[in-house]
Order: sequence, then structure tokens, then C-alpha cells
Amino acid sequence: MQPCFITTPIYYVNDRPHIGHAYTSLAADVLARWRRLEGREVFFLTGTDEHGQKVEKAAGDAGMDPQAFTDEVSQHFRDLAVAMGFSNDGFIRTTEPRHKEACAALWQKLVEKGEIYLGDYEGWYAVRDEAFYGPDELTERDGVKYAPSGAPVEWVREPSYFFRLSNWAERLLKLYEDNPDFILPASRRNEVIAFVKSGLGDLSVSRTSFRWGVPVPGDPAHVMYVWLDALTNYITAAGYPTDHEAFAKWWPADIHFVGKDILRFHTVYWPAFLMAAGLEPPRRVFAHGWWTNEGQKISKSLGNVIDPLALVQEFGLDPVRYFLLREVPFGQDGDFSRSALVNRNNGELANALGNLANRTLSLIQRNCDGKLPPATARAPGDAGLGALVDALPRQVGAHLDRQEYHLALEAVMAAAREANGYITVEAPWALKKTDPVRMEAVLRHLHDALRVFATVLQPFMPTTMASLLDQLGVSEEARSLAALATPLPGGIALPPPSPLFAKIETA
Ligand code: ME8
Ligand code: MG
Repeated sequence: MQPCFITTPIYYVNDRPHIGHAYTSLAADVLARWRRLEGREVFFLTGTDEHGQKVEKAAGDAGMDPQAFTDEVSQHFRDLAVAMGFSNDGFIRTTEPRHKEACAALWQKLVEKGEIYLGDYEGWYAVRDEAFYGPDELTERDGVKYAPSGAPVEWVREPSYFFRLSNWAERLLKLYEDNPDFILPASRRNEVIAFVKSGLGDLSVSRTSFRWGVPVPGDPAHVMYVWLDALTNYITAAGYPTDHEAFAKWWPADIHFVGKDILRFHTVYWPAFLMAAGLEPPRRVFAHGWWTNEGQKISKSLGNVIDPLALVQEFGLDPVRYFLLREVPFGQDGDFSRSALVNRNNGELANALGNLANRTLSLIQRNCDGKLPPATARAPGDAGLGALVDALPRQVGAHLDRQEYHLALEAVMAAAREANGYITVEAPWALKKTDPVRMEAVLRHLHDALRVFATVLQPFMPTTMASLLDQLGVSEEARSLAALATPLPGGIALPPPSPLFAKIETA
């Protein structure tokens, strides 16, 4: 099976991680875990973006040397990965020597190909976005001009190297045309196509007015534009330019996960840089939507930044992971609300899934002497649930192939609701006296269903589902998707069940 390379953005170290960073990395983590369940070899990369004017300024504001500052803040992102249960295989920092080497190599290649020339840049720049803007993109309030993102812009005039982006419009459009799923969701694809069709100018790719960056080879008065530096992280980590074997194995990336704010960098500039250097563009860029907090834009100045670590502390890791991918269709904007999190936890995790597991396993404990009943053929009454359960792994897989997390989870929940209906109708607790054989069959079908639910939910809720699989008597080796084809032997002893999810009481 083909190896799979999955990335998150590398986050700016100007500030501490918040819910938005946790969200993107979570989506990437779930896909990485799913691919491993499929049996694929995965390289899941995240990291920090440590150069540029914005980080230099943040370090200055903190009264720190930029390297010491980035060392400190970058650590918060590594801590976040641990706290959120991310299974990343790599963590890249753009201040690492291997990365500076990759940037220099890519630059040289672009120079060799005639794609870079020296000129003068004059125009608007937003430090907060680390982005250049045309005058027609700006709005003015109280004498200050703002980019569409809301970031204030300043006038910049300095010598600069340029990348011949204007040469690449046709080939970019062909890339989008030939690969309809290169940009997902489709609405974002249309946005990018419209932008490229509106005309591309050459792109300033170096700065001379500050020092915190990768020096331009042969002209150290210039540092590389932080986005050229940052985007290169993906190939650095894959082995460029020295480890040819690794690079051949991992590149092109299967998917770059990004927020919609950085769509243009990943779907226009990045594939243009790569194609210009004779390298393949990534296979997919998925741009998800934006979280607000109880209806408000999340911002430091509003003081409503959601700290993912505090959320996890309060609600538990797996309910938070579940909620973030369940509540909002991936790709759309979403609103974070505590009541919505509580409702999902109580209604779906504690009730639909947790109670089902607890009832089934308690009945097996009590009425079957704690031994798993043998696998058995389905009676007509078992067919409805059976069909849903059989189809589930493929259904979840098809949704995850398109990053439709909410639909994958909805499919599991639909099957769990069916199983809850089934246990009510079949009432196995009443069969002990009247038809113990049927009781065992019903409990076995429920157990089979729970095993499938737990297996496919592992990527979303690794800790809780590991506990459920323990309780179901599924050994570590039997937790892959392929292992579902082999029924568990009847008669194995199951441990006494314990609750998986707590209901959250609200005042
Ligand atoms: O842009 N809702 O880094 P960054 C959802 N260093 N996602 C959010 C969010 C929100 N409210 N806020 C942030 C950079 N994000 C560059 C990237 S990549 C080569 C360089 C997430 O720290 C979302 O993924 O500003 C967004 O794209 C990313 O954080 C921006 O992180
Ligand atoms: Mg940002």
C-alpha cells in the first residue's frame, strides 16, 4: 500500500496555541490514524513557523532574542500535540539547519531555472498576515488602511527579489482543471480559480528591512519572504534536498490541511514554486472554515481566545476531539458553544454510545457468565442492524477520503441509534428465562456492532475507544480495519465493564 504524507500548517510562534490550531491538527491526526488503521505507512507532520517580521516583532515586544523566544513558544505547540493526543511523526521548526538548507536549495533551483530576478518592491504589506496586498484590496478607516483579513497594512519600499508568478497562471489553471479534488471544498476551488483568472503579478520573495529569516544565497542583505521559507517546510521534512530516498517515498504530500485564511499561499504560490523548481505539487489542499466563540470572532483583544488545554481539562480529551469534528461540517465556519459541546457529549457519547456499550457488556457479564457468546447467523430481526454495521467501515472510509468528518461520525451515530432501537425491541434482559439461546444471539450481534463502532472511532477518540476495545475483549492486534473480517472466538472472558463517558451536568 502507498505511503501517505499528511501535514498541518506550521504555526506562527508569535502567540500561544488556541482552538483554531488544535482544530487543524486534530483533523490531520484523525486522517493519519485512519490511514494507519487501513494498514498504510503514514508520515504526519506538524511544526512551527519561526521567521519573519511578525515573529521578530513579538520577540522584541517580549524583550527577548528571537531564537530564545521561538524556542519557548514553539514548545507550547509541542505540548499542545501531546495534550491533544496527536500522533504526529515529525515536528519541524523553520529555524532548524536542515530547513535553512532546503530553503537555500529551492532558491538556487528557482534561480537556475530563471524564475527569480532582482527588482524593487513598492506596495502594501500586512505584518500580521505576512502578506502583500494590492491597493484595490484595501479599505480605509480613520486614516488606516486594512487588508481584507482586517490586518492593518503599511507601505513598504525596498529592494527585493521577485518570483515570476505571472508565468504560472495557465499551468496553475490546468492543475486545478486536471485535478478537481486538488482544492477542497469545491467552494474554495472556485474562489482560487477566480483569483488566478483575475491575473497574477510577480511575487516579492525577499525582504531587506529586517533580519529574522533565511538569508538569500549569495545576497545575505536579503532574507527570504517568510511564506517561501514556511511553505518549504513540507519538502524539508520529506527529505529535500539531501535524502532522495525519503523524498521519493513521501513527496508529493497527500494532503495539506489549512485554514481558509491561508488558502492562496497553499494553492497558488506553493504549487507555482514547486512546478517552477521541477517538483510535483501536493495532491490535495483542504481549507477548513473558521471558528467563532459563542458567535464572536476569536481575538486576543476581545479576550475570548479558547485555550484547548483548558477545554480538555474541563470536558476530557475525547469529548472535545469528538465535538470539534462532529459539530461543524468540515470546510464550513463554525461556532463554538459550551451548550453544543455538552449536548453532543450527553446525547451521543454518554447516551447513544456509552449506555449501549454498558448495557450490552453488563448483560453479558451477568447473564453469560462474562463470556462472549459464540458468533451466530442473523435472524430476520437482526438484518437491519447487521446491514448498517457491515457497511459502516466502508462508509466511514469514503467520507474520510473526502475529509467529511461530520458525515463519518453521523454514519456511526445512525448505526448506534439503530443498535439502541434493536436492544429495546429485542429486550435481551427479558430473554434469559424464555429463550436463552436467542438472548445470547442478540448480545453477540450487539457486541459485533460495538466492535465495529469502536474500531472505526479509534482515530477520533483513541483513549476511550482503546478502553472500549479492552472491554470488548479485542486484542491489540485485532483492532485494524482488516481484522474486522475475523469474528472474535466465542467463549472469551470479558472484563467487567466500566463507563466510557460521563454526562456533563450543567447548572
Ligand atoms: O498562518 N478557526 O500560521 P498561524 C479555525 N505560519 N482555524 C484557525 C483559527 C480559527 N479561528 N485560527 C487559526 C500561519 N486557525 C502560517 C502558516 S504554513 C506553511 C504557514 C488555524 O499561526 C488554521 O489552520 O496564523 C489557520 O490556517 C492556521 O491556524 C493559521 O495559523
Ligand atoms: Mg494567522
